[in-house]
Amino acid sequence: MSNTPKTPPVLPDNASPVQRVIAWIEYRLPIFSIMKHQGEYRTPKNLSYLWSFGSIAGIALVIQIVTGLFLSMNYTPQKDLAFDSVEHIMRDVRYGWLLRYVHAVGASMFFVAVYAHIARGLYYGSYKKPREMLWWFGIIIFLIMMATAFLGYVLPWGQMSYWGATVITNLFSAFDSIINGLGTAIVTLLWGGYSVDNPTLNRFYSLHFLLPFVLVGLVVVHLVALHIHGSNNPTGVDVKDEKDTIPFHPYYTIKDFAGFGVFFLIFAYLVFFAPNYLGHSDNYIPANPLVTPAHIVPEWYFLPFYAILRAIPDKLAGVLAMFSSILILFVLPWLDTHKVKSGRYRPLFKKFYWLFILSVTTLGYLGAQPAEGIYVILSRICALYYFSYFLVILPLLSKFEKARPLPESIAEDYRRKH
Ligand code: HEM
Repeated sequence: MSNTPKTPPVLPDNASPVQRVIAWIEYRLPIFSIMKHQGEYRTPKNLSYLWSFGSIAGIALVIQIVTGLFLSMNYTPQKDLAFDSVEHIMRDVRYGWLLRYVHAVGASMFFVAVYAHIARGLYYGSYKKPREMLWWFGIIIFLIMMATAFLGYVLPWGQMSYWGATVITNLFSAFDSIINGLGTAIVTLLWGGYSVDNPTLNRFYSLHFLLPFVLVGLVVVHLVALHIHGSNNPTGVDVKDEKDTIPFHPYYTIKDFAGFGVFFLIFAYLVFFAPNYLGHSDNYIPANPLVTPAHIVPEWYFLPFYAILRAIPDKLAGVLAMFSSILILFVLPWLDTHKVKSGRYRPLFKKFYWLFILSVTTLGYLGAQPAEGIYVILSRICALYYFSYFLVILPLLSKFEKARPLPESIAEDYRRKH
């Protein structure tokens, strides 16, 4: 952006008051040309419904912020009042039950959208050059999302809130075996004391309120990075000319809305017919530091990572493996260096990709089972496959896999199919 003075717009004498207001605003802040850019933004003409998950995730984030804001008006972040304040929202506040269920189910739906979004990116090689920064910001968003969801789950101060917070924060004490006292110092800082208690609830509430706005900022950067090179597409072949593209509006606005329709049907079904289906019934028991639940289970969206944590008997190694399972995504563009982006033209990659999805889903199942016997053995096998996929299989495929011939262009591929 340059600082050279801009000439004010010259309007015809018969310009309407609306045109004058628009010109006045545009001269000071070019929001209308930004909106116009979005509408005219050229997009590959062959994007499938899988490309709707980004917008769906954006809507899910807005829903979380709006419902969260209204919940905060009646919630009390005090350990003796928090549980009751949530029950007060459910029973006494007008439509409080709806706000709470939309927020709780919304967290799950947000993860559904983001997991589909990531899986799409992994299959079509959307992380490859020149979209590495876009991918990185996606991973940072994912990490902050997970932190936000974890903090939010503590707020109702039920048994699972309390014990989930205790188990997960305690993981940091594993760092004591690297530097003596370091882990304990981190845990004490997180707790604001020597156990999960009122100061913990207070700081978790503040951070849970703050982080969604950090997410909004990160999503803006994510989208700026997206608009630099534009979307990847199911062929993985770059856009060559105008014939490969269509304007975002109205084509993808309407397609995204069709995606929203299906998403909201499932969302509404869960909110109105099975609002507690994805939650744990123990969280309707007020937190009790003297009674540990039989099984401490995190929400479903953390289960694959929880299973990796428990697959390894050593605490520090388990914690490191769990964090690495996400952080490894940062170096993915340099592990999968195959020239062909899209999995569609890579017969071997395809097989290993679906095995990867199977291993993550199985880890999700195993994370909810007791950490014993066959469950632990299976978790180890799946965790081993998870890391091998990134560290061994993808680098080897990058070297040796022979891809099927690519279409000349997006337009060519489109013509063949329609
Ligand atoms: C709050 C969460 C997120 C929102 C709102 C969001 C939003 C979007 C939107 C609107 C798009 C363009 C439409 C599309 O391609 O689906 C996009 C593209 C993309 N996002 Fe995200 N995103 C989020 C999280 C993530 C995460 C967690 C990752 C990866 C770890 C990621 C990686 C990507 C990539 C690689 C693209 C380009 C895809 C392509 O062009 O094929 N995003 N994102």
